[in-house]
Amino acid sequence: MDKTMDINEYLGEVLVSREEIQKKVKELAAQITEDYRGKKLILIGVLKGGFVFMADLVREIKIPVEMDFIAVSSYGSSTKTCGVVRLLKDIDVPLNDKHVIIVEDIIDTGLTLTYLKEMFSSRNPLSLKICSAFDKPSRRLVDLKAEYQGIVIPDKYVVGYGLDYDGILRNLHDLYILNEKVIDK
Ligand code: IMP
Ligand code: MG
Repeated sequence: MDKTMDINEYLGEVLVSREEIQKKVKELAAQITEDYRGKKLILIGVLKGGFVFMADLVREIKIPVEMDFIAVSSYGSSTKTCGVVRLLKDIDVPLNDKHVIIVEDIIDTGLTLTYLKEMFSSRNPLSLKICSAFDKPSRRLVDLKAEYQGIVIPDKYVVGYGLDYDGILRNLHDLYILNEKVIDK
């Protein structure tokens, strides 16, 4: 794919504006602040997509919180995942004395987070929850819900706010529908 065009040529309409995103970020952070006061909390961001949301979310959380990152890649084409997840980077701290929240960009089929939940559960954290910026519940292949559910969107391929197409377009404030014309070009 040509990755050098004007950025607007890759984009369709804005699906969720930066104002709506920031409002949801503040809401989720306020809930987390209330729920985990006096508790030892670690947020684990899922790279790469989760980094923008993670950066915004942690700065709105008003209690002490540790943070770390894992990196996963799911096999499949650039707009579809097939559910096989590969762990590219793990965390190195034990979780058995901590409450854990996994921070993701989007839940689609739910396969990635199902895999990650199982992996982290086996490390016996005090509790384990999921916080996701966006959610496409209509695409779910497994029964999975985020305790801290972000903005629910329809079944469209979206980019921006950490979400990519073939590695680019993560650096946008708003969430856009990908311009169909660029798919597999
Ligand atoms: P799941 O395992 O199907 O839930 O897929 C989750 C991962 O697929 C997310 O962490 C994203 O990296 C990616 N993904 C799913 N939907 C989109 C989208 O619309 N745009 C960009 N990435 C997406
Ligand atoms: Mg991701």
